[in-house]
Amino acid sequence: MSSLQPSPADTSSQRWAWWPLLPLYPYGRRPTLMRELVPNRVWCFEQLHGVWYVAVPIRMTVVKVEGGLMLYAPLAATEEVIRGIHALENAHGPVLSIVLATSSGLEHKLPVPALCRAFPRAALWVSDRQWSFPLQLPSSWLGFPADRTKILFRDGLPHPDQLSWIPLGPINLGLGTFHEVACLDHCSGSLLVTDALVSMSSVPPPIFGLDPTPLLFHARERGAEALIDSPLQRVKGWKRILLFANYFRPGSVSVPHLSELLADVAQAEHRQPATHFGLFPFRWSEHWENEADLLIANSAGDISFGLAPVLERLVFVRSKGPFLAWLGALSKLQDVRQLIPAHYDAPKPISSASLAGLAQRIKQRTWAPSEGAWQLLASIDSTLIEWRLVPKQNQVPE
Ligand SMILES: [Fe+2]
Repeated sequence: MSSLQPSPADTSSQRWAWWPLLPLYPYGRRPTLMRELVPNRVWCFEQLHGVWYVAVPIRMTVVKVEGGLMLYAPLAATEEVIRGIHALENAHGPVLSIVLATSSGLEHKLPVPALCRAFPRAALWVSDRQWSFPLQLPSSWLGFPADRTKILFRDGLPHPDQLSWIPLGPINLGLGTFHEVACLDHCSGSLLVTDALVSMSSVPPPIFGLDPTPLLFHARERGAEALIDSPLQRVKGWKRILLFANYFRPGSVSVPHLSELLADVAQAEHRQPATHFGLFPFRWSEHWENEADLLIANSAGDISFGLAPVLERLVFVRSKGPFLAWLGALSKLQDVRQLIPAHYDAPKPISSASLAGLAQRIKQRTWAPSEGAWQLLASIDSTLIEWRLVPKQNQVPE
C-alpha cells in the first residue's frame, strides 16, 4: 500500500475545483490513497465522499492492459491523482482507456471531463443510456469529449482479448435508466463493478488512516463530547456510518428535541469545525450495534459481498429478475478470484460458487423489505411512485 500524501505544505495538490457540482464532504480538498491490489497488474485510487461526515470510500481501479493502462470508474482528478497515474504510466505505459461503466452514478460521471482532459489520448468508453436530471443533456454537454467517446457494446469493447464485459440492465427507473457494466480482468481474476455489488465489514477502510475525523465524529453519543481516537472508537464510528449510508435513517437512531441539541452545543468544550461546533442531532438506542451487525452479516457473512440496501429498495425493487440474471452471468465466468467495487471494501475474495451462492440466498429471502431499518427507503419509494417519478409495475430490461 502506498499513500500519495503530500507534505503539509503541498495540500494544494489535493484541490478539487469542481466540488460545487456535487457538494459532498470533503468538498474542495480530496486526499487520495493509492494502493497496489495485484502486484504490477491492478491498483486503486481511493477518496472519501459523503454527507455530514457519513463518508464512504469511492474508488477508481487501474488495470494493466496490453500496451498501457485502463482506468475504471473515474475519480476526482486532483493533481495528486494525476501524478500517481503518471507514475504508473512511466512503468507500464500510457492510459489507453477510461471507462464510465454506469449510466446513473453521478459521483462517477462528474469526474469524467477533468480525467479526460488529463489524459487527452485515452479513449472514453461509457455505458449506454447516459442521462441527466432534471434535463436530458447531450453527452458533449456533460463534458464527454465527442471525438473520443465510445458506447460500450454499441461501438465495441475495450481490450476484449483480456477483459470480459457483463452488462446489468438497462432497467427503466422512470427518472432515468440504470445500466452498469461489470468487467473481469482474466489475468488477475479481478471483477470490477461500480455500484451493483459491495462488500462491507466492521473494519474501517484504510482511506480513514489519512483522516479518521468522520469515524470519531459519529462514534460519540452527544455533541458536547470531544473527538477521541482509539481503534474501538473508529470501529464504532464506521459501523454507524454504514447504517446511515445504507438506510439513510437507521431504525436505532432518533433526532433529539431542539432544546436538547442547543444544550449540547452550549456544553461543548471543544467548539471547532471538526465537531460541527457541538451540533450532533443523533441519539442512538442501546441496540444500535445489533442493527449494524445485521447489515454487515446480510451484505457479507460467509459470502463477503452483496447488494447495498439502498440499491435493492430504490433501484432493483421491481427488477429482481434482471439482477439475478446478471449474477448468474457473472457466476459462469472463468477465472473470477476477487471483487473490486467502486465503494466500501476492496479487494474481496470471490468465486463462481460464491456468486451463485449469493443468487441462491437472494431467492430464499424477502426481497426489498419495508420493515425495520428499511422503512425510510420504502417510504421514499412510495413517494416516488405517488409522484409518478418511478413506474409502479415490475420492470424488465428494455
Ligand atoms: Fe457509486
